[in-house]
Amino acid sequence: MDDLDLLAAARAAAANAYAPYSGFAVGAAVRTRSGRIHTGTNMENASYGLSLCAEAAALACAVAEGDFQVVAIAVVGGRRDTSGGLIAGGPVTPCGRCRQLLKEAADAAGGDIRVLAANADLTEVLETTVSALLPHGFGPKDLGLG
Ligand code: THU
Repeated sequence: MDDLDLLAAARAAAANAYAPYSGFAVGAAVRTRSGRIHTGTNMENASYGLSLCAEAAALACAVAEGDFQVVAIAVVGGRRDTSGGLIAGGPVTPCGRCRQLLKEAADAAGGDIRVLAANADLTEVLETTVSALLPHGFGPKDLGLG
């Protein structure tokens, strides 16, 4: 039930994606140890390389709320059809940069983070962890911290 809430929050955020260039809408929702949920969506830019991912936006929202003990994240997305709805393709897994951002969040919380990667209509949900998505990752320990 908790996971369904998290997936639903991510899907709701995806509906608001600002993705006029790729037409690919992504929503992310993080759950923290407090039980709260923070959401984010992708925000593109005419200077394509400046586009922000949904996961990064959700993590930044958690930080801004002073609630950065992330235990789980749901990522949901798909291509937009001509009427603005989302096409159900495969599960959307975090990009490489977002995996690194998620590793930082996991290390900051002193644990691993469950990742629920889903397609647009939630008929396919891939469940994994940040440590599985980014094995041998670089983190605070490599800097002698944490
Ligand atoms: N995108 C995300 O927001 N998260 C991901 O994990 C994969 C990709 C966004 C970035 C860009 O706005 C669009 O999806 C197409 O790559």
